[in-house]
Formats: sequence, structure tokens, C-alpha cells
Amino acid sequence: MRQILKSHQVSMESNIRKIAVLTSGGDAPGMNAAIRAVVRTGVYYGLDVYGIYRGYDGLIENDIKQLTARSVKNILERGGTMLKSARSMEFKTREGRKKAFENLKRKEIDAIVAIGGDGTFTGANIFADEFGVKVIGIPGTIDNDLSGSDFTIGFDTATNTAIDCLDKIRDTAMSHNRLFFVEVMGRDAGFIAVHTAIGSGAVAVIIPERDWTLDQLIHRLDKGIESKKTSSIVIVAEGGKLGNVNTLAHQVMDRFPYYDVRVTILGHIQRGGNPTQSDRVLASRLGVASVEALLEGKSKVMVGVINHQIVYTDLMQAIKEKYHLDKDLIRIADILST
Ligand code: F6P
Repeated sequence: MRQILKSHQVSMESNIRKIAVLTSGGDAPGMNAAIRAVVRTGVYYGLDVYGIYRGYDGLIENDIKQLTARSVKNILERGGTMLKSARSMEFKTREGRKKAFENLKRKEIDAIVAIGGDGTFTGANIFADEFGVKVIGIPGTIDNDLSGSDFTIGFDTATNTAIDCLDKIRDTAMSHNRLFFVEVMGRDAGFIAVHTAIGSGAVAVIIPERDWTLDQLIHRLDKGIESKKTSSIVIVAEGGKLGNVNTLAHQVMDRFPYYDVRVTILGHIQRGGNPTQSDRVLASRLGVASVEALLEGKSKVMVGVINHQIVYTDLMQAIKEKYHLDKDLIRIADILST
């Protein structure tokens, strides 16, 4: 079920008085902007707002502190998350979640805003079902792989970072007539890879969503040589169908010993850095919308932006439906590689 926000009128009859915010899973640039927006919106509506440190681990270990509007000053522009993040194993157990609930009960916290990706939302959904805690999800992951929002917080910054690196790699690739294989993040999704490929003018892109064979890649490289390309870049998503980037580069070198091949893995550099304008604005909008959603009595939904409008999507739908990579983008990358 997906709902579009119809009005900005918030009922003040809500019985929510205390809320908490956490970040969980892989950090993403813009998470701080979202935390700031949640805290300041809560304060604006007269709520007590708490920060839960280290994701669900901190919730279980009672690492929870009250935050004020000033606690979140000077974080809007910073990457990472001031609340820190974790992938909690203990929260996957009923016992862990029970401890977490006891901590919330003691502080009389009525609701949680959870910023993260699919693992974060899965935990939030189970927690809400088991203990009746109200939860709202904010999509914060560089992977952009959630249904219910055109973009997730961090994706724009991560792809800009990747493209900036690719521009630099292009300089050296061109100077030495080299073929570069560059691995970008995305275990299960090719959003970063395809956007980076288009934005950096790559000759080919290898992603989890497309069953490309080694022969197809080699055919593409051959065409590049025929059209007198002297240097080329292949973008490989972490979860790309042709396997590990180093192995792939060796397979190509075996077939084309005359290629001067190099491999670069961009890695966690894509997760850091100051968020772009788009991520700051998206995070601020979603932070405000998450608190207003709680005040309107909503729970177990993710807030997102589709076609410039705030929408709410059931948490489980946001995870299960998976946001599909636009096939037209793959087609565009292919056409422009000629
Ligand atoms: O989910 C975000 C992400 O950055 C993925 O793109 C990547 O595969 C993974 O996290 C890396 O996780 P970790 O930082 O735990 O190694």
C-alpha cells in the first residue's frame, strides 16, 4: 500500500510525546542531515527527542541520550552519522529485541525513526509487530535499492564521488592507452554502477541485474578498438554477474595480452564525504515527513519521495518489492559506449 501525502496539517491530538532516532546498516552521506531534521522537527512539535547510538546494538545496550536542537548543530554538511551505525546480530534474536523494548519502556519512548536500508527496516517491522512500538523508516543507503522512493539518501553523493574518481582514472587511462576495470559498490544492485558508467562515459557496465557473458564484454571491447578507442573503462558492480573484478580483468588479459590492463576498487570511499545538495534536501524533507507521519498516527511505513511528492510505503513492501533499475538507463549506457 502506498499513500501520497495530501496535506501538511498535523493533528496535535497525537499521544506521541517522546521519540527516538537511530541509524543502522551501512552509513550513507546525508544521514546526519536526516538526524538533524528528525530532532528539530520533534522539538518544533514539542516532543522530547532521543538519539540511539550504534543502531540496534545501542538500543539493546541502552546507549540512548536526549538530544536538543543544538545537539545537531553543524552536522548538516558532514558525511557519516553522528549516532554511529552497526549491523546488529543481537537484534535478530527475540531476546535482544526484548532488552531493546525494556530500555524504551523505561524512558517512556513511544516511537522510533529508523534510518537505513533493508536490514534496518526488517528489524523495525518485527519490533513493531512484537511490542507495538511505532516505527517509521527513512531510506538511507548509497545502494538506492528500496521501493517507495525515487532516490535513497546517500546515493547522489556516492555516485558523484565515484564519478569524480572516474574522471581522475580517465586522465591516467588516456595518457597510457590503458584499459581500466573499476569496481563500484552494490552487492545486489547496479544503480551506482549504471549511473557512474553513464556519468563517466564507460565502455561497458557489469551489474547484478544483467546476465552478460565474458564473450559479450569482449565483443564490446573489440568494437571499441575498431572505432579507434585508445583507452577504455569498464565499470563493475560488486555483485556484477561476471564475478570478482580481478578475476575478470585476468580473463580479459588472457584473451588480449596486448591490452595494458589495470584494476581499481573504489570501495568505502563511496560511503564518505559531504553530502550533495540533493542528499541534504532529500534527507531534510524525509526527516520532517517522518515525524509528521508519527504525529498523524502512522507506523510501519517508510517515507519517500516519488515524483517530487512525499509518499508512504509499507516497510515490508519497500524491502520486498525492490526498486528495479530502469532498463532504459542500461540501454543509454550501451548506446553511448560506441
Ligand atoms: O549497503 C551499502 C553498502 O555500501 C553496499 O554497497 C556494500 O556492498 C556494503 O554496504 C558494504 O558493507 P560493509 O561496510 O559492512 O563492508
